[in-house]
Amino acid sequence: MNIGLIGYGKMGKMVEESARSRNHAIVAILDPALKTREPHEPEKADVFVEFTGPGTAAANLKTALEAGKKVVCGSTGWYDRLDEVSAAAKKGGGSLLWSSNFSLGVNLFYRIVSCAAGLFDKFGEYDVGGFEVHHNKKADSPSGTAKTIAALVLASMTRKKKVYFKDVQEKLGDEVIHFASLRSGAVPGVHSLLFDSAADTIELRHTARSREGFALGAVIAAEWLYEKKERGVYTMEDVVGMT
Ligand SMILES: NC(=O)c1ccc[n+]([C@@H]2O[C@H](COP(=O)([O-])OP(=O)(O)OC[C@H]3O[C@@H](n4cnc5c(N)ncnc54)[C@H](OP(=O)(O)O)[C@@H]3O)[C@@H](O)[C@H]2O)c1
Repeated sequence: MNIGLIGYGKMGKMVEESARSRNHAIVAILDPALKTREPHEPEKADVFVEFTGPGTAAANLKTALEAGKKVVCGSTGWYDRLDEVSAAAKKGGGSLLWSSNFSLGVNLFYRIVSCAAGLFDKFGEYDVGGFEVHHNKKADSPSGTAKTIAALVLASMTRKKKVYFKDVQEKLGDEVIHFASLRSGAVPGVHSLLFDSAADTIELRHTARSREGFALGAVIAAEWLYEKKERGVYTMEDVVGMT
């Protein structure tokens, strides 16, 4: 498969390494910092992999999707524009696969979270809350993964109605889930969910050891999207469901 990279920062470089190790070719690298970077044959790309950032992702995706391309997007913090981006895919005949977290482990963790939240819903003795930790260069907060985890808990716990991501300045109601963010050092990513009662705590935690797991997951997603005949908008859940 021929891959075009949009964004050649920490993640873009890791995707390149992971893609080459799986015998894929990199045919284009699009990044404003690399004016004359070779290779530059974007027309040969079967799939583009986008890792730029919250402020640039939606515009990049719209351009590629309107041109009928297949794109895997790892950038986070742009999801309020998902409808607009999906409309561009429909209009141009492109396909999008996006995920706030391409780690295979996190996508399995999502299933564990849904199952646990469903179990604890029946026992009002247990409250639920969470936190995430990332390196101090991360541009968005809360993480996209934290938002997904919170949405999954809401979907499975009928007694919880909303999520509060910011600092708590008032007493929270029983229907609220609090999910906090910490930015410090070089942490690749920690997401923790706690079910807490007067008697005990059950903590579900995913700890990323490095960024390699994200890059590998993004390449596996690109392979899946390359094979997928029907055009559309997909997430990593579609990939995990198939493998
Ligand atoms: N989904 C996941 O599994 C996952 C995992 C890790 C990270 N992420 C997300 O991926 C994104 C990138 O992370 P990163 O650590 O790789 O960031 P990074 O090291 O800052 O890399 C981003 C790169 O994209 C370039 N860029 C900026 N605007 C661009 C544009 N319009 N077109 C093409 N390239 C552009 C940047 O260039 P300049 O430096 O010149 O601006 C930079 O080289 C973030 O949103 C992060 O949260 C997602």
